Amino acid sequence: MPFVIRWEPAGTPPPLRVFDSPSRGVHELFLGDALDVGRFLVQRGDTFDLLYMDPPFGTARTQQTTQEGGSYRDPPVEALLEMLYPVLELAPKLLTDRGGLLVHLDHRAVWAVKLMLDQILGPDRFQNQIIWHYRSGGRATRRYSRKHDVILWYGKGTAPWFDARAASSPRDRCALCGQAKRSSHLRTVQGDDGRLFKAIKSNGKTYLYDPEAGVPLSDVWVDIGHLHQLHPERRAYPSQKPLALLERLVGIHCPPAGRVLDLFAGSGTTLVAGVRLGREVTGGDANPEAIPVVLERLAAEGVTPACYTEVGHAE
Ligand SMILES: C[S@@+](CC[C@H](N)C(=O)[O-])C[C@H]1O[C@@H](n2cnc3c(N)ncnc32)[C@H](O)[C@@H]1O
Repeated sequence: MPFVIRWEPAGTPPPLRVFDSPSRGVHELFLGDALDVGRFLVQRGDTFDLLYMDPPFGTARTQQTTQEGGSYRDPPVEALLEMLYPVLELAPKLLTDRGGLLVHLDHRAVWAVKLMLDQILGPDRFQNQIIWHYRSGGRATRRYSRKHDVILWYGKGTAPWFDARAASSPRDRCALCGQAKRSSHLRTVQGDDGRLFKAIKSNGKTYLYDPEAGVPLSDVWVDIGHLHQLHPERRAYPSQKPLALLERLVGIHCPPAGRVLDLFAGSGTTLVAGVRLGREVTGGDANPEAIPVVLERLAAEGVTPACYTEVGHAE
């Protein structure tokens, strides 16, 4: 029987509560190790449409934004992989049949994690690796500057949820850089049913596009910037990802009103994105310093999640 302690971060903690059925219709936040929280959710019978993970990257450094802000220890790659493997093994149990797993990493661990996921879910469940390229200060002089993260996307099955309409950028903007196009070489024509289309002629053939439908995104994203130190979205917590990135991922990979889980929630960007898009969110982080940051960000969205800690398993 799995159990957790219901926790009021700002008040008197009421003691033990036992849960044996999946939660529905509530946003939840766990202070606990990803493996403990993941196992608890599996035992409780919860499943999610989207499982996003942005674990430490294996830098072997303490990650800190400001002296006053939160910090966490980022382990060396070997220790990261050891920690991650059993968490990733829970993915098939945590996902709905059409559920998807997104794992956000950089050059240090992504190759090893790709092999792990091929082993756990099967290479045929691999869908894409999204390259998120950002412009940030600092240039390398002895090698190419490292300016991208990788987001691996796997399905539990072979056809995970993917909202093609959400996965497109407006036709009047550059799909790569997001900037408005100066002029369009597409003509506007009227179809037999009276609808307006954009038309382009190539090799004697005319191609028609629905102007509302947008241009399908490729797997290289360069139109979302990283959060610089003075960015208004910034909270005093390291490795915070931009809301625009998480809103895009949640909008594409989680069906409307679906459930999103982030076991390495950090400052809570995934949870904020999910709430904004009307999804039900569950988050967890092992670092007590992350919790008030997440709560403050969710409060700004009008949400108070149920909080739990000391997740345990009476085997
Ligand atoms: C890269 S940060 C996540 C940042 C987050 N995506 C955001 O936008 O703010 C990684 C987080 O994983 C947490 N973490 C590290 N090891 C963990 C573990 N074993 N279980 C749960 N959380 C862990 C750290 O405390 C840190 O907050």
